[in-house]
Amino acid sequence: MNSHQGSRSGNEPLLLVEGVGKTYVTGDEDLPVLTNVSLRLEPGEILAITGESGSGKSKLLNLIAGLDVPTRGTILSAGYAVHRLSEEELTQYRARSVGLILQFHYLLKDFTALENVMLPAYMAGMPRARALERAAELLGQVNLSDRSSHYPLQLSGGERQRVAVARSLVNDPALILADEPTGNLDERNSRNVEELLLELVRLHRKSLLLVTHDQGFAARAGNRLHLDKGELVRVVGREPR
Ligand SMILES: Nc1ncnc2c1ncn2[C@@H]1O[C@H](COP(=O)(O)OP(=O)(O)OP(=O)(O)O)[C@@H](O)[C@H]1O
Ligand SMILES: [Mg+2]
Repeated sequence: MNSHQGSRSGNEPLLLVEGVGKTYVTGDEDLPVLTNVSLRLEPGEILAITGESGSGKSKLLNLIAGLDVPTRGTILSAGYAVHRLSEEELTQYRARSVGLILQFHYLLKDFTALENVMLPAYMAGMPRARALERAAELLGQVNLSDRSSHYPLQLSGGERQRVAVARSLVNDPALILADEPTGNLDERNSRNVEELLLELVRLHRKSLLLVTHDQGFAARAGNRLHLDKGELVRVVGREPR
């Protein structure tokens, strides 16, 4: 095990969220967003989280990504105790152990598709040639080899999301966190991004926590949890494939 990681042993879950709450204080009012969230994700597992707008799905993902700190509870992810990391450790955790895909792609507009995918690897210390080679391979896996020298503004919404999928994998993170990755796309592009994301996650044996409004996507992804009144409820039954 690498020294930067905690003591995750073979049979521990990849992600263990226990009793997590997040409350905002505005003026003299407490606004609880998440009250008591617990979940576990095994290596290679795909878990979809659905919930009404405003139910706290993005907030939960941000807490797991270490972009925000919970008011209470614990988050153990890829051997890191995410809820109590220093800034330096957080940077390391985010760079090495999680791949993020958001609803709005947030690609860097002055860099080509290929550069966008290679940059996180290059910044993490991978030699430039190796990072470019890996980025090109991943772009091929999302069927964008012929768009590698295009800038984000020259790509369609679906193509940008596919670049974001490729980029999320470049540092070989154990965990992919996707927040509405198809939220802004039409039906055909949604399906395309959905299929590529699930295919790549399985191919690279990653764990995926997927937040989506799309019940069909959630059902096709794997196990499902529903966020309601700040807590997670297991969804039983599956929709037809
Ligand atoms: N900094 C903040 N201060 C106060 N309230 C906040 C803050 N950030 C988020 N919230 C509230 O937390 C709640 C959950 O927000 P979140 O973005 O997680 O919802 P969501 O489930 O992702 O919704 P959507 O499906 O629309 O993306 C919202 O009601 C939001 O207003
Ligand atoms: Mg959201």
